[in-house]
Amino acid sequence: MTADLLIRNATVYDGLGGEPFQANVAVEGTKISAVGEAVPTNHEIDADGLSLAPGFIDTHSHDDGAFLRHPDMAFKLAQGVTTVVAGNCGFSAIPAEPSIDPNVASGGILAGLNDATFTDLEGYFDAVIKRKPAINNMMLVGHNTVRAITMGPARTAPTAHQLRVMQGHIERAMEQGACGFSTGLIYRPGRYSNTEEVIELTRSVTAYDGLYATHMRNEGEGLLDSIEETLTIGRKANVHTHISHHKAAGRPNWGKVGASLARVETAIRSGQRVTLDVYPYTAGSGRMIEYFNLDRPSRELADVIRIASCPAFREFEGRMLTDIASERNIDVTDAVLLILNAPKGDQTICIQFIIDEADIETNLAYHDMMIGSDGIPALRGKPHPRLFGTFPRILRKYVRERGLLTLPEAIRRMTSLSASTFGMDSRGRIAEGCFADLVLFNADTVHDTATYDDPKREPEGISLVVVNGAIALERGQQTGVGSGKMLRFRDAEGNH
Ligand code: ZN
Ligand code: CU
Repeated sequence: MTADLLIRNATVYDGLGGEPFQANVAVEGTKISAVGEAVPTNHEIDADGLSLAPGFIDTHSHDDGAFLRHPDMAFKLAQGVTTVVAGNCGFSAIPAEPSIDPNVASGGILAGLNDATFTDLEGYFDAVIKRKPAINNMMLVGHNTVRAITMGPARTAPTAHQLRVMQGHIERAMEQGACGFSTGLIYRPGRYSNTEEVIELTRSVTAYDGLYATHMRNEGEGLLDSIEETLTIGRKANVHTHISHHKAAGRPNWGKVGASLARVETAIRSGQRVTLDVYPYTAGSGRMIEYFNLDRPSRELADVIRIASCPAFREFEGRMLTDIASERNIDVTDAVLLILNAPKGDQTICIQFIIDEADIETNLAYHDMMIGSDGIPALRGKPHPRLFGTFPRILRKYVRERGLLTLPEAIRRMTSLSASTFGMDSRGRIAEGCFADLVLFNADTVHDTATYDDPKREPEGISLVVVNGAIALERGQQTGVGSGKMLRFRDAEGNH
């Protein structure tokens, strides 16, 4: 047999956390055909001793719409990311209904859905595949979207009929290959749901053995209560529960992630399946209007807000609210109202500096903490740098500089652990028979370059990315081969 591609002389990290070894990796079609000796090949690349790992998996993305608008997925591919999980925080591209504004149903953070004609996951997958996406996508179906489609902005509990309709949407998505159900209980309309509603909806994924992924109701003073609610939902619905972007938000709450992780550990020891992810930055980001009560905007929060994108005031993009306020000689809480009450003010995306660096380290020190970027792919203005920098940042800052994780362990957290958590059989490992999703990088130099001031910069030190056996990036250049697949939960052959 002649291989289609042979990567020679690589320092191979298997994705399982084992020590690296020198080997040649051969690819035939979409899969890894051999790991070890050199074999005859049509195309050979000399790795020259660089590190070869399974392609990174971003467990927390909002890339549903980006797959349609930016199918090159440049901001992810350049990081060595070959697969994302989308549909997070309760917002997903599906289900969709022609009569409902997709931007409303998707919380205004999934740009790119405007011309969508699909209504379900199958239709979404078809629409994305037509655009030849650069990387793979595994989807969650989101509670906020399902609720908005079914109940509009209602603040009431669902009727029995509405509950049935919502369960139908979730079951249909699971039937078509979603890996689970996500909530964003801080956002509208999810915040109007009680625990009982979420349990009833989460039960729709139990039969599929899917997961419940949650942006919890309160990540600040209510963090520990939210952990209880989350564990209750997972226990009562009897599903694997995944806590998204684990953090303690707001200075008075810093340090609480220790107690929160301890509670998770207790649940795991009692037999519950619970997993988590984190992003490696001290700021969050999202739609600004969701974080403020317009009747009484929080000064504490306003003080740590930076504007990412703002259609109403483009000149505010990249600036702290405190600077905007002092320049205009107004109170910082009035600056909040100025922005949010302006036409299109509700489309403002902000960055909030609410996280303690020590908590990030506590999170990363936790044995099975995965990495999810939570990047919002709205490329106008100054987006949070996590969109472009998350994975190389882990390798630079937390592996090389802080020594918090060994390289094999960091890679495990970004590959095989994520793949097994989100039901991607045959990915996240370098082994014969696995899909050839690969990243070649220089472990001594790889680093993020995106900053808050200059966020749209691609990382350095990544020389080759292979997606499903095809070269997607070589010598820093993206090839446009478009070999990404839409993945079905626990389907070893992927989908399209
Ligand atoms: Zn979230
Ligand atoms: Cu999110």
